[in-house]
Amino acid sequence: MTAVISDIAKWRAQRAGWQGASIGLVPTMGALHAGHEALLARARRENDRVVLSVFVNPTQFNDPTDLERYPRTLDEDVARARPYVDAIVAPPAEAMYRDHYRYRVSENQLSRRWEGEHRPGHFDGVLTVVLKLLNLVQPSRAYFGEKDWQQLELVRGMVDAFLLPVEIVACATVRDADGLALSSRNRRLSPEARARAVDFPRILQTAADPSVATTALRAKGFEVDYVDDHDGVRLGAVRLESVRLIDNVKLREGRS
Ligand code: PAF
Repeated sequence: MTAVISDIAKWRAQRAGWQGASIGLVPTMGALHAGHEALLARARRENDRVVLSVFVNPTQFNDPTDLERYPRTLDEDVARARPYVDAIVAPPAEAMYRDHYRYRVSENQLSRRWEGEHRPGHFDGVLTVVLKLLNLVQPSRAYFGEKDWQQLELVRGMVDAFLLPVEIVACATVRDADGLALSSRNRRLSPEARARAVDFPRILQTAADPSVATTALRAKGFEVDYVDDHDGVRLGAVRLESVRLIDNVKLREGRS
């Protein structure tokens, strides 16, 4: 039976017994879905040991209601992760923020755009907790989904900037059969909104440019935070029934 370890000293004792083994970390905030399962499955294939972290990180929520509403489903998560993992680390907030967030990681370019513009402080929280988790788990590899494109870029940049001895592995976005990217937030959509949500990836994929996409999304009833093309990728964030969805698609050759 896979233990859920919340005590940092106990986790360190367990980790000390794994010297010399390759370790794959899948960092999550819980509410696991098939997208997380794909990360866990890949980590299982590529490492001797697999660790899942489950920590709903308060510092990355700029909206307290969003933090409150974030699904917390530890028992289901443990059942879902069990076939893939050797340990589940789920530390309490007091252990992760023993400094009361006096120390934090801040990036001052990419983190200010798109998600950062609409969620001030979000990426300080993400980068800070990812650094803490990497230090705590000391993995050989850490697995992140491409759905959170900006997060992935920033984590890669932090690992490079701070010379961290870990390989960041990017995993393709997992989608429902109709094309909607899997996200823990999808479960907050009503059935009617869930049916309409599929227009989000479809319009991102097919619109001629970000402005056409924005107009088409608004016409379908989405509130649009942003749509932008960057580095061969179209990024977007929308709200439907006050549920915030983000996604990105690769642009075909010839589109920026
Ligand atoms: O992508 C997430 O689930 C979170 O942002 C992460 C990387 C686990 C940090 O809290």
